[in-house]
Amino acid sequence: MPVSRIVTRVAYGVSQLPRVAWYVGHGLALRQLSEVTRRQEDPRPRRRAYANKPVPDRVRIYGDMAKLFLQDLANVEAGIYPLPADHDGSLPTVLRRSRLFFDDLPAIHRRRERGAYNEVLTEETRRKRPHYYLQNFHFQSGGWMTDESAETYDTQVEVLFNGTANAMRRQALPQLQEVFAGRDQRKLRLLDIGCGTGRFLDFVKQAWPRLLVTGLDMSEAYTRHARHHLKHRSRTSFVIGKAEAIPLPDNSQEAVTSIFLFHELPPRVRRTALGECARVLKPGGRLILVDSFQRGDQPDYEGLIEVFPQSYHEPYFLSYVKEDFSTLAANCGLTLVRSVKAFVSKVMVFDKSSP
Ligand SMILES: C[S@@+](CC[C@H](N)C(=O)[O-])C[C@H]1O[C@@H](n2cnc3c(N)ncnc32)[C@H](O)[C@@H]1O
Repeated sequence: MPVSRIVTRVAYGVSQLPRVAWYVGHGLALRQLSEVTRRQEDPRPRRRAYANKPVPDRVRIYGDMAKLFLQDLANVEAGIYPLPADHDGSLPTVLRRSRLFFDDLPAIHRRRERGAYNEVLTEETRRKRPHYYLQNFHFQSGGWMTDESAETYDTQVEVLFNGTANAMRRQALPQLQEVFAGRDQRKLRLLDIGCGTGRFLDFVKQAWPRLLVTGLDMSEAYTRHARHHLKHRSRTSFVIGKAEAIPLPDNSQEAVTSIFLFHELPPRVRRTALGECARVLKPGGRLILVDSFQRGDQPDYEGLIEVFPQSYHEPYFLSYVKEDFSTLAANCGLTLVRSVKAFVSKVMVFDKSSP
């Protein structure tokens, strides 16, 4: 094996393994804390509502995580993207975010126990954002509306996914490369809708630094965080707006991406947003969605579909998991090219036909 390949593999392991250990450790601590709190409130044994559907054991989960990371490494070795930099921040930043994560747990627990999810729906916010958006998704404090929520979000997501969230996001990049290969990246445009704190756009810019990218999100706080996260990147802009009314011209983008957004949209909005993605794509352009696996995709994981929206406030998840994206896309002129598994996510690839 060439030395360069050994170096790449070691560097990959050195960057990813401690990261996974860090977030898995948070997950274990979180479960211990919730179990202690739960037993104090109700000593009866816990009954999880998996609806008699199978759930993977820990060995299976770690095995599937390993497959994801091996695919990620294979993409690097194939030259699709460089050795990824997760940019979690300096040690003090990572520690501060960890503290924020744990500090927020009691409030999340109280919300979950009370089934409280509309704290961000106020007289002031209801004039500014759609009703469906003004919820405490995942029972998180501040919903999508506060800087504290934006600051805690990435730790929460990485803990939820055992440190694989970034690796799952990166599985959209090989699908983009098919569209960008051999073309002058300075003349190509990509729009990421529901860009959140900008983690996916960071990986896009690591692979194509000269690409013109736009992040669109309805949250001022998350957009602010994304802008800061990508402040050293040129040709990057952010727009505060709705996926269902994208403020960009028709046929203007070579690629549109969206990561972990569509399961959070009501069915009606999901349809409109998909139509908007199709509208702004150039003919021959590509839409890539990375989101949860759906019903039937992973039979051994089916029980997680039942339990996820019970533990996290996810009001549209059960409609998402049965949504037929192939038909929805076809209705707006997009063709489903393929779906690729990425641990508990899948990458759905749609092309807009050329004239
Ligand atoms: C689950 S987060 C995903 C963020 C990011 N894409 C990621 O990879 O983690 C959903 C994001 O979509 C935004 N969002 C939700 N509904 C939206 C809509 N209709 N239009 C634009 N942004 C929306 C939220 O503000 C939030 O930042």
